[in-house]
Amino acid sequence: MNPALPAGYKQERKSGVNIAIVGSGYVGLVTGSCLAELGNKVICVDSDAKKIAALKKGIIPIFEPGLEELVINNTRKKRLSFITSIKDAVKGSEIIFIAVGTPPLENGEADLTGIENVARNIAINMASYRLIVEKSTVPVQTGKWVEHTISTYIKRKVKFDVASNPEFLREGSAISDFMHPDRIVIGVDSKRAGDILVNLYKPLNAPMVITNIKSAELIKHASNAFLATKISFINAISRICDQVGADVEEVAKGMGLDKRIGRSFLNAGAGYGGSCFPKDLDAFINISQNAGYNFELLRAVKKINQEQKRFLLKKIKDNLWIVKDKTIAVLGLAFKPDTDDIRSAPSLDLISALKQEGAFLRIYDPQAMKKAKEILPDVKFCKDSYEAARGADCLLVVTEWNEFKELDFAKIKKLLKRALIIDGRNIYDPAQVRKMGFTYVAIGRKGL
Ligand code: UGA
Repeated sequence: MNPALPAGYKQERKSGVNIAIVGSGYVGLVTGSCLAELGNKVICVDSDAKKIAALKKGIIPIFEPGLEELVINNTRKKRLSFITSIKDAVKGSEIIFIAVGTPPLENGEADLTGIENVARNIAINMASYRLIVEKSTVPVQTGKWVEHTISTYIKRKVKFDVASNPEFLREGSAISDFMHPDRIVIGVDSKRAGDILVNLYKPLNAPMVITNIKSAELIKHASNAFLATKISFINAISRICDQVGADVEEVAKGMGLDKRIGRSFLNAGAGYGGSCFPKDLDAFINISQNAGYNFELLRAVKKINQEQKRFLLKKIKDNLWIVKDKTIAVLGLAFKPDTDDIRSAPSLDLISALKQEGAFLRIYDPQAMKKAKEILPDVKFCKDSYEAARGADCLLVVTEWNEFKELDFAKIKKLLKRALIIDGRNIYDPAQVRKMGFTYVAIGRKGL
């Protein structure tokens, strides 16, 4: 049995459901290949012909542990295919997931052009009942608009339902998150739609929350906003720890053991990034504003996250005094470990600020350098942490990759011009690195 499959899921269902996933980005690809793995017949659609041609050959445009294997296996078993035509996908698929991007507009609102486009295309190509499911993160009320759009453009007299089924996948562990979810949220306004989705997800043996469409849409926004709030909360605590000589790691441990609070998402550091939290928070602040509520708490969460990068920058300056002409080894570009994603990564803000101050940067990341090379000129990309450390005045950790936790410190010390570590993710034991002769500066750990 494939280890990705949930316990108790002993055999593939004899007859799966025919599914189309429109949008073969991160969410669409993971959802499509996992649903195929569960025995369904899945067609992934994308308007990008190059991407589809590559996927047909098993070439995956993103780095996600386990995804390549799932795509290749399920393509071979003819449960997963890739096409560019929505029309062909809609023809034979009972369920159609919309997983296209909703990038932010200048005012922070989500751009729903892609969703509207897909809804229109589905409408003109539907010949019999279809269930259209929102998978992308969208503002509350989008379900109503999708329904309205389909009703407006539909050509034949066929029935359809719209549902909201938000994803809670984390980059880096998306396959396991899909196969072993904490919960599955199903937002429907009809029994027929509810039954189809409950049946689809039954093999996962996970708790299901069945609500109306608007509540499901809000669950997604509220969950991401709450997680971002937890991170900014602990980052704010880290500032106080630094001032009074307490240790934020101990504070987080002490708080986290309370089951009502929990230890996860209480890691202080360089702040949150990625393609979800920053964008979703902006969108949610906007949605709330439009609904007549000024969500000040989330504005503060966002502000604290921005300040956290300046806080780290100040620590660098406090230790180097003059940054101009200093060499800084930067370990980590990705917004978190196990991904090559650098969207809204704290590393980018830090690198840009350090460059502006006139520093030379020697950078290493295990996965994200290819993407970074496209947008970061005038920095030196290195083959590993040791090459990055060579001749540097300071080692700055920005992403908590496992390989950074296991560095050979004796070797690093010899390579650095000055034995200074600024740890933006609190990954080292202060006593241990100081014993090796380093000046060690972390977040909210001044007391140690
Ligand atoms: C997040 C949510 O965790 C998923 O449930 C959701 O499906 C996804 O957004 C989405 O909306 O699509 P993701 O952005 O992949 O997933 O990554 P997270 O693991 O949540 O981390 C987000 C950021 O918070 C990272 O920059 C990470 O370094 C930071 N973080 C996380 C902290 O700074 N401290 C923590 O304690 C936890």
